[in-house]
Amino acid sequence: MGTEILRVNPTEPEPEIIARAAEVIKAGGLVAFPTETVYGLGANALDERAVARIFAAKERPADDPIIVHIASLESLYQVVADVPPVALKLAETFWPGPLTLVLPKTPSVPDLVTAGLPTVGVRMPAHPVALALIKASECPIAAPSANLFGRPSPTHPSHVMEDLGGRIEVLLDAGPTLIGVESTVLDITGPTPTILRPGGLSREELEKVLGKVELKAGPVDGPKPSPGLMEKHYAPKATLYLVMGENGAVRDFLRERGLEALALGIKRGFLIAEEDRASLGDLPVAVQILGSLKDPATVARRLFASMRVLDAIGVEEIYARDFGQEGIALAVHNRLLRASGGKIIFLEGG
Ligand code: TXA
Ligand code: MG
Repeated sequence: MGTEILRVNPTEPEPEIIARAAEVIKAGGLVAFPTETVYGLGANALDERAVARIFAAKERPADDPIIVHIASLESLYQVVADVPPVALKLAETFWPGPLTLVLPKTPSVPDLVTAGLPTVGVRMPAHPVALALIKASECPIAAPSANLFGRPSPTHPSHVMEDLGGRIEVLLDAGPTLIGVESTVLDITGPTPTILRPGGLSREELEKVLGKVELKAGPVDGPKPSPGLMEKHYAPKATLYLVMGENGAVRDFLRERGLEALALGIKRGFLIAEEDRASLGDLPVAVQILGSLKDPATVARRLFASMRVLDAIGVEEIYARDFGQEGIALAVHNRLLRASGGKIIFLEGG
């Protein structure tokens, strides 16, 4: 199958292009589209056969639930059986935006979408193209990130083509995404709201509205909250180490590992901060500068693309510095932790 790439204006999507993509969705086909977080791989959420094609295209295991995307509050009642007041408050405050709410599902949502769970993850994306596509398709759209299983989420249309070119009917190309990490997944079915996946909306922002919010993000640092969260999300061929500690110690360590790589002829890649530049800048090793320690939003935006660059170079080992856990840095920390599979290097003096 050839994938049709349709260029679309990110802020004022052309109605005829959206209509064309919506036809594909209505016919049970697959459309990759931009959201404010990452590109999604969309299908009609109420059409079980269309959803089955998502799993096949991504080579995704069936135990990983898919987020349902909506463009209006009325659609929330179509997919959620019981909408508590707290859900409406969160929707009012943060939608459209990078927040996925986990709530009890209605029977109209196929079990395949929720991986057999009685709950559904639902969100309203803050992207004009995504909203226009959902409206024109006249159905909620189920969409995981538009990458092959085990690869970094796509923040650029070229990433989608790299992974899914030839496996989907249409790619709506609206350029790079703004946030760069996926939505925050919040379970509000229990007594205390619980973050199952930190993401584009920070825990601090949620706590302003909700008070105390729990964090229960798998797989390496907590109990198993849901099957899909055990997924080793980004599994680079290279071994990835997450380096934590005081800045001076981190820089000395990175330099030492850089020099060692050159001496021993090991292909090593480094994911570092702008402020670490001097410690590796003069060495001919693969360095990706994610952004300043003071600017975690930029770090988040560049994270997945930088991982793809190191994968393409074919490094054997990756050393990634930690960027802290405040605000959106918590999502960066979580993605690096998952990619490392728990291989953390704690430096003294940190
Ligand atoms: O920003 C995003 O969330 C992107 C864009 C495309 O919207 N989507 C995304 O989807 O990241 P995906 O499939 O890569 O990640 C969805 C994750 C699942 O792996 C699972 O952790 C959680 O959301 N999830 C979905 N439905 C759930 C449910 N009913 N209960 C618990 N977790 C759920
Ligand atoms: Mg994903």
